[in-house]
Amino acid sequence: MLILGLQGSPRVDGNSHYLLSTFLGAAEKLGAGTRLVHVDKKNIIPCKEYTVCEKKGFCPIDDDMKHEIYPLIREAEVIVAATPIFFYNMTAQLKAVVDRCQTLWARKYRLKLKDPYKNQRKGFLLSVGATRGKNLFEGLELAIRYFFDAVDADYCGSLTYRGIEHSGDIKKHSSAKKDVEDAAKALLEPLIGRKKVLFTCKDNACHSQIAAAFAQVMAGERLDVSSGGVKPADKLDTYAVKAMEEENIDLKFRRPMSIETAISYGLPDTVISIGPLNEAPVISDRIQNQQRWDMVQNADNSLDTTRKLRDEIEKRVSEFVESI
Ligand SMILES: Cc1cc2nc3c(=O)[nH]c(=O)nc-3n(C[C@H](O)[C@H](O)[C@H](O)COP(=O)(O)O)c2cc1C
Repeated sequence: MLILGLQGSPRVDGNSHYLLSTFLGAAEKLGAGTRLVHVDKKNIIPCKEYTVCEKKGFCPIDDDMKHEIYPLIREAEVIVAATPIFFYNMTAQLKAVVDRCQTLWARKYRLKLKDPYKNQRKGFLLSVGATRGKNLFEGLELAIRYFFDAVDADYCGSLTYRGIEHSGDIKKHSSAKKDVEDAAKALLEPLIGRKKVLFTCKDNACHSQIAAAFAQVMAGERLDVSSGGVKPADKLDTYAVKAMEEENIDLKFRRPMSIETAISYGLPDTVISIGPLNEAPVISDRIQNQQRWDMVQNADNSLDTTRKLRDEIEKRVSEFVESI
């Protein structure tokens, strides 16, 4: 399981960063994989309202949203947004990320595609502001709720602190550190305890991606499902994405991952290797349940063969999910 932290402050070591790194530190202690992104350090162009995403489901701007942030949002099961209040809302840097997620909004609401994590991704907000006004966090909370909805994350709550101005002020707060650690534990402990299943194949571009997506859709929150490849490809197989779109399942921004990376997000209880028997990877002896599914290969690399493969995988995943 990956926890993604979006750090919205331009201060690399400021109050928002402290809250977020405390949250992610607690997550790591529980055994989750984490990733903290300082959005100010990324090349993220604000939305230009080209409206290509509304019709075609992608943004033509070629920047770190495309190459890094969309894929990370799709990989993460928990997203934590951290930002100081700038004029009663989030920073412009984080707002640029939020606005560019109109692409994910459009894929969900216009194209009616379903992110496989739709019913299980969670969102949490951390924030600080210098003043003490009653309504200080209202604008931010509303904007973040809409952001979480666009990225298919259930808004699970927030921790916000008033009267925090200078860098480091939050460290002197009497309860902030413990509040954040407790919130991380409460949110993540039930997720960490789930059974973990890892699907593998040669390049994590097709078979294991399809299987993992079906398992995520079918099992919902019940299982912690990941996938990885022996030698990850550069990108997902185009026919795999298309064949899954026909089932309304959205794999567009998913990326092939190595087995090692997948395992670093949590050691699986079950590994299912898909493909010819002689290609099945040998995973750690520590994993009790290792299965192999010998399946049709997409030898002629056509959409039709990929559809057959998709249907075969769907059937096997359904049997597997029912059995566990
Ligand atoms: C451009 C700007 C706008 C700000 N607007 C507000 C505001 O509207 N209300 C408020 O209470 N604090 C405001 N602040 C103060 C910050 O929220 C505060 O200093 C915060 O602790 C900074 O957190 P950081 O260390 O994570 O950047 C503003 C600061 C800046 C630089």
